[in-house]
Amino acid sequence: MSRITVQTLVFPETSGINFGAAVSNVDIEKLTDADFDVIRDALYAHQVLVFKDQSSVSPRAQFQLTQRFDPAATSYGHGKTLDAKRSILHPDLKTIPHQPQVQVIGNGFVREYEGLKDVTLKHPHHKTFHATAIPAHDDLDFTRFYRWHIDAALYGLAPPVVTTLLAVEVPSGRRQICRYDDGTGDELHVPLGTTAFVSGYTMYELLSDSDKEFARNTRVEYAPHPYIWMSGAKSRSDGLGMLSQGLEVPLDQLPTIEEDKIQILPMCWRNPVTGRLAVQVHPSAVRKLHLANGTVIDNLAEVRDIIHRLQRPGIAPNMVYAHDWEQGDLVLFHNRGVLHSVVGAFAEHEVRLFRQCNVAASHFPEGPEGPEGIAAA
Ligand SMILES: [Fe+2]
Repeated sequence: MSRITVQTLVFPETSGINFGAAVSNVDIEKLTDADFDVIRDALYAHQVLVFKDQSSVSPRAQFQLTQRFDPAATSYGHGKTLDAKRSILHPDLKTIPHQPQVQVIGNGFVREYEGLKDVTLKHPHHKTFHATAIPAHDDLDFTRFYRWHIDAALYGLAPPVVTTLLAVEVPSGRRQICRYDDGTGDELHVPLGTTAFVSGYTMYELLSDSDKEFARNTRVEYAPHPYIWMSGAKSRSDGLGMLSQGLEVPLDQLPTIEEDKIQILPMCWRNPVTGRLAVQVHPSAVRKLHLANGTVIDNLAEVRDIIHRLQRPGIAPNMVYAHDWEQGDLVLFHNRGVLHSVVGAFAEHEVRLFRQCNVAASHFPEGPEGPEGIAAA
């Protein structure tokens, strides 16, 4: 018997958020099998789990919790691809030397942490990734979704099942207004440095019947070395995919491409416990669409427009869970059922230190038709 309790997060009635739960009475350093069963069931039911007061969790225990969802998985979700200096992910992550599946992310100068010395962390700022930016004089009050994504290499390595984020140090207080800046007037009040989550299941359920059918039957091809490939290109203002201005790094200027590492994944990923379908697409890494009738759409602008049209309703302001980080929060999320985004702009003196962990999975996500051949409509 486990003592763990799981409580669904409660939102105002106007909210469309239908995921998230708080998990209590848990000792992450000493998880029993019964404890893990409760956590696993909760994860696949609620997608995002919040554990309070976990400051003392070691990098090793964080890794072990993360890996327990896929015991055959061992290496960090991006493998060693982060080392590539041209990767857009390179500046954002610092590896903990004694637990290389765990990365330190955040903002500001850190003298010493878990074997890392004198590191300067930089919270990703949308001005480095978006085609346009909030003007500098508004930058402390207004912000944007930096980049909606799945944590995944999308080349060679299979997308991690879960990611854990632990808030070690959180600067207090300010709030910001997150603007979509896409002509809709949409905006969202958020705590400084929130992590924003949306449900891929809701994204699917919001589609029309014909779009659902299209999503169930279409496969998404990702670019080779996607984070280098997209490094020249610029994002839409809502952080949901790239603009098509011909700025991607040409394929012949990428590192050697191994054809068998290129990924063509279902557009809908099936929840292995509930059978529900999530529209799970990393919008900025998409390159081609493979339709049911064998047609391949390879016009990048058209591909991106289709994906954006399908995904955009799912990131409407009332669909976004913006986690209000407190020191010691550990958030475990289902990386195959939600999209997430960094948000916010810190001042240089605002020090924030987080630990992130995921592991490249030992298996690829299931499509609409699972291994038993059961179609989940
Ligand atoms: Fe992420």
